Amino acid sequence: MARLSKLSRSVEGSVVHITGAASGMGRATAYLFADEGAKVAVTDLNGDQAEAVAQEIRDAGGTAKAWALDVSDPQQIIDVTEAIGKEWGRLDILVNNAGIGVFVKLDSEKYEEKWQFGMDVLINAVHRLVRASLPMLRKAEHGRIINIASTEGLGATPHGGPYTAAKHAVVGLTKSMAVDLGKEGITANCICPGPINTSLTEFIDDKDKATFGRRRVAVRRYGDPEEVAHGTFNFALPSASFMTGVIMPVDGGFWIRNA
Ligand code: NAI
Repeated sequence: MARLSKLSRSVEGSVVHITGAASGMGRATAYLFADEGAKVAVTDLNGDQAEAVAQEIRDAGGTAKAWALDVSDPQQIIDVTEAIGKEWGRLDILVNNAGIGVFVKLDSEKYEEKWQFGMDVLINAVHRLVRASLPMLRKAEHGRIINIASTEGLGATPHGGPYTAAKHAVVGLTKSMAVDLGKEGITANCICPGPINTSLTEFIDDKDKATFGRRRVAVRRYGDPEEVAHGTFNFALPSASFMTGVIMPVDGGFWIRNA
């Protein structure tokens, strides 16, 4: 049948940079973009693991290259962004995914230190990566920014201080970027994952996860990284041109469930 719609649902040939892509949701996102024909810049603090992910993508017939990148280091952000541009001559999509859990009691003497660390990795990195990538995103036909926050960017869990504040800031910064960049055709959207099975939640017992899922999540379970990757992917499509400043939970209905 001849197509009746006009907008493209393909990222084939686009270049995507995914931070924290050696594990969890970042890795699942890298796999998905590669499967859909994008060229994937796999970056992570753990350079060896990033290389392993890039190799898996190449072995499966995709296009990927890995770089070690600590997103808390402003110079590394500039250098790696430049290297991606040199490699493929363009950058269309930036996925700010790298993250760590930073939970600390309000009266802990480590609060200040953890706060700084959390801010550097979880929020300062986001504006730095976007600002470093802007010249290339501006040249892209469909420039896309997708920031991975958390349902912790919408509400709060005990002792979440730095993490919760940083993820709320990611939500706010996404809205601000959407407003600033809309006139240039670059969209900025935010995913708020709920409880997902990744190395970040590995420390939680399977039994406790099952109980949490049953009591708190509409679909009654933790999510898988790939389920979040598809949310990210949808924002990245050329056809997503009128979606910007959206803060989208991908949480199995954790956020809307009252009882
Ligand atoms: P993960 O631990 O599986 O993956 C995170 C990746 O980020 C790791 O490969 C790690 O090496 C990398 N990373 C950590 N610090 C970095 C740094 N300074 N520079 C570069 N890379 C760094 O965790 P997951 O769950 O896949 O996390 C991805 C994102 O999703 C994070 O932003 C996290 O805050 C967020 N998130 C996770 C949830 C969950 O339930 N797993 C829920 C809500 C949000």
